[in-house]
Amino acid sequence: MSITNEESTAASSCSHHEGNGHSAHASCGHHHCNNDRPLKEVKHIIAVASGKGGVGKSTFAVNLALTLAQTGAKVGLIDADFYGPSIPTMFGLVDAKPEVEGKNLVPLEKWGVKLMSIGFLIESDTAVIWRGPMVSSAVKQFINEVEWKELDYLIFDLPPGTGDIQITIAQTIPLTGAIIVTTPQDVAIADVSKAVSMFRKVNVPLLGLVENMSYYELPDGTKDYIFGHHGGEIFARTQGLAFLGSIPIDRAVREGGDSGTPCLLSHPDSATSKAINQAGLEVVRRISIMEAESGVEQ
Ligand SMILES: Nc1ncnc2c1ncn2[C@@H]1O[C@H](COP(=O)(O)OP(=O)(O)OP(=O)(O)O)[C@@H](O)[C@H]1O
Ligand SMILES: [Mg+2]
Repeated sequence: MSITNEESTAASSCSHHEGNGHSAHASCGHHHCNNDRPLKEVKHIIAVASGKGGVGKSTFAVNLALTLAQTGAKVGLIDADFYGPSIPTMFGLVDAKPEVEGKNLVPLEKWGVKLMSIGFLIESDTAVIWRGPMVSSAVKQFINEVEWKELDYLIFDLPPGTGDIQITIAQTIPLTGAIIVTTPQDVAIADVSKAVSMFRKVNVPLLGLVENMSYYELPDGTKDYIFGHHGGEIFARTQGLAFLGSIPIDRAVREGGDSGTPCLLSHPDSATSKAINQAGLEVVRRISIMEAESGVEQ
């Protein structure tokens, strides 16, 4: 695979995410609405998104992937942040390079999670200076020209905001749903509501909201709500979103991200890892309920 700079073919919006699964719209012109849809061997595709940067999307996406893999599921993770890829560092794979099979890339694999990131293809100190359409076409290559094979879950770690990449993914990939990550503070909530309305506009189901950096537990056991009190939970309630849980500020999370051993593996029994685990299992539960309700075969 080579990352080309061809213009992306922008998909027009249609209501392909409504009704009983995507195959119901075989004539709408979206390539995923028929048997040639991309990622047809992937059962569930989940986007992890936020409006604001630095709230913990990548951290949650990584630990969610591990939670799902620990249930025995086959899991893949796409780092869709082309300008600031985090997955290679968070998985301790900074110098790793994927193999090529035919004209496709073979995803890297660690801890039972298949991985692809622009960080595996460029030098880590090289800045990506592509424009939006080039990034959109690179996203499409990550989908179509990587040997994902059969997966139960493929997770997209999105960049912050509601720009080209998010819209390309929301419109061209049959997303099972999106998870919103936010901190409790007002400026994050203001941005996150834009992300929520973007997903609603393109009919991507919202699986729920995770409040990250909810509080810091002091040595005497009291909680310091550094970024505000329950802002994410209140926002979820007012927006009618499922609240997936509160993840505390925890040194082990930051260290896990930087050292390449996620906290779920380094501190599996901590309150933080338990909160992350619980949020991940709630996502699984909500997906199965959603699909049972819409009559889609698992
Ligand atoms: N609960 C937490 N406790 C402590 N540190 C955290 C927590 N969540 C995230 N971090 C740290 O905060 C920083 C930002 O997190 P992360 O990269 O996951 O955010 P992001 O939303 O993906 O950012 P970007 O918008 O740049 O993609 C990282 O250094 C990460 O280790
Ligand atoms: Mg990130």
